[in-house]
Amino acid sequence: MLDLSPVFATFPLLETERFRLRQITPDDAADIFHILSSPQVHQHLGRQPMTSMEEAERRVQAYRATFDRHEGIPWAITRRGERPVIGTVVFWHLNPDHYRAELGYLLAPEWWGQGIATEAAQAVLAFGFTTMGLHSVEAQTAPENIASRRVLEKLGFVQEGYFRENFYDPVTQQFGDTVVYSLLKAAWLAGRQGQCP
Ligand SMILES: CC(C)(COP(=O)(O)OP(=O)(O)OC[C@H]1O[C@@H](n2cnc3c(N)ncnc32)[C@H](O)[C@@H]1OP(=O)(O)O)[C@@H](O)C(=O)NCCC(=O)NCCS
Repeated sequence: MLDLSPVFATFPLLETERFRLRQITPDDAADIFHILSSPQVHQHLGRQPMTSMEEAERRVQAYRATFDRHEGIPWAITRRGERPVIGTVVFWHLNPDHYRAELGYLLAPEWWGQGIATEAAQAVLAFGFTTMGLHSVEAQTAPENIASRRVLEKLGFVQEGYFRENFYDPVTQQFGDTVVYSLLKAAWLAGRQGQCP
C-alpha cells in the first residue's frame, strides 16, 4: 500500500512556467465564488452554480478538510507573483491500495483557451508520479465536454471506458454518460522523453 502520510505533512506548493499552485485559504472565498457561481463552468458538471458567498466559504473549508483528512489535494491555480485564484486543480478519490488517484480541474471562463489547465495538470501529474508515488491517474468527464477531453488527450490520457447514462444530473433532470480516461506512470514517463509509451 502506498504511504501518503509524508505528502500531507505540509501542503505541497508547485510551480510551473506561468503559475503557482498553492493551498486555498479563507481569503480566496471571493475568487472561489466568482469561479463556482459561473453557469459556464457548470455546463458539464451536473451541479448548480453557487449563489452565495457563504457557500463559497463552506467550500473553502471543505477543501482544507479534504487535505487535513488526507482525502485529496485541492490546489489553487494562481499566476506567479499574483494572489487571485483563477482556477483549481485537484487530486481526489485517492486510492493508496492501488497507487491511484483521480484528477480534476476547472478555471474561471475568462482564462479558458490559454493552455492553463494543461500546464497546471502537468505539474500535478509530475508531483503525483514522482513525489506521491502513484502508478496511475484516472479522470472522468462528460462526453460533451470537448475542452476537458482535449486537455486529457494533450496530457497523454487514454480513454478506457464509456459508461452510458450512469450519471443523474439534477440540474437538467436527465441521465448523462461518462467517459473514463487514465494515464499510467510508464506512459507519462515515456511522454516526457518524447517517446511513444
Ligand atoms: C476544461 C477546462 C478546465 C479547460 O481549461 P483550458 O485551460 O481552457 O484548457 P486548455 O487551454 O489547456 O486546452 C483546451 C483545449 O480544448 C480545445 N477546445 C476547447 N473548446 C473546444 C471546442 N468546443 N471544440 C474543440 N476544441 C475545443 C482548445 O482548443 C484546447 O485544445 P488545443 O490546445 O489543442 O487548441 C475549462 O474549459 C473549464 O474550466 N471548464 C469548466 C469546468 C470543467 O468542465 N472541468 C472539467 C471537469 S471534467
